[in-house]
Amino acid sequence: MDGILSANTETAMTDDKSWPIDSKPTANVTWQKTTLDRQRRAKLLGQRPVVIWFTGLSGSGKSTIANELDILLHAEGRHTAILDGDNVRMGLNRDLGFTDADRVENMRRVAEVARLMLDAGLIVIVSFISPFRLERESARNLIDAEDFVEVFIDTPLQVCIDRDPKGLYGKAYRGEVKNFTGIDSAYEVPLAPEVHLKTVGASPAGNASEIMYYLKRCRWAERA
Ligand SMILES: Nc1ncnc2c1ncn2[C@@H]1O[C@H](COP(=O)(O)OP(=O)(O)O)[C@@H](O)[C@H]1O
Ligand SMILES: [Mg+2]
Repeated sequence: MDGILSANTETAMTDDKSWPIDSKPTANVTWQKTTLDRQRRAKLLGQRPVVIWFTGLSGSGKSTIANELDILLHAEGRHTAILDGDNVRMGLNRDLGFTDADRVENMRRVAEVARLMLDAGLIVIVSFISPFRLERESARNLIDAEDFVEVFIDTPLQVCIDRDPKGLYGKAYRGEVKNFTGIDSAYEVPLAPEVHLKTVGASPAGNASEIMYYLKRCRWAERA
């Protein structure tokens, strides 16, 4: 995507759950060009940067598989970074809640950070529920479709409820947590993810290997 992608904070939130990725630059702000670009940085790191965007229900296995993938990439000498939902919500996005509007803003910021990391030449693993199709598309457009790999961690809701690794489904059922994805907030299943993983009957390491297989087949994890 060409040009500057700057969200005007006054119009950042829209009813259709997207953000204004084509909005005009904020008044009196000019893009500062740098001499070194993403290609130069990536070449120094010896890799082709990419954003690997995990989506799936809470408890589906995003963080677990992201961690396994990180280990596999690291073992092959790749430079990675992980943006994980809970961790980012404890820092950068600690001011955001779980309303639809806050979820959209959560995603917008994460996509912006992922793009900065991409510019730094990194392989970025993003692990967020990212429940809305439109917000995932907005992230894909912001980052550039050709640098974006969507990974759907497909675990049936009932399995996630049974796993309940953080006890959140229990809390949601007791009404102690509101707007919980899959319970009283929607999850829109990806229609055409680059990688579609089923975790039932699979191991986290096995699922991570499936992603590695895809990355290699599409020449992502090769040396630049
Ligand atoms: N194939 C699998 N991939 C990932 N997690 C799995 C798998 N099989 C079982 N699990 C378990 O499911 C839970 C997933 O939790 P977590 O990774 O925190 O989910 P999320 O980040 O999507 O909320 C963990 O307790 C993990 O051990
Ligand atoms: Mg997680």
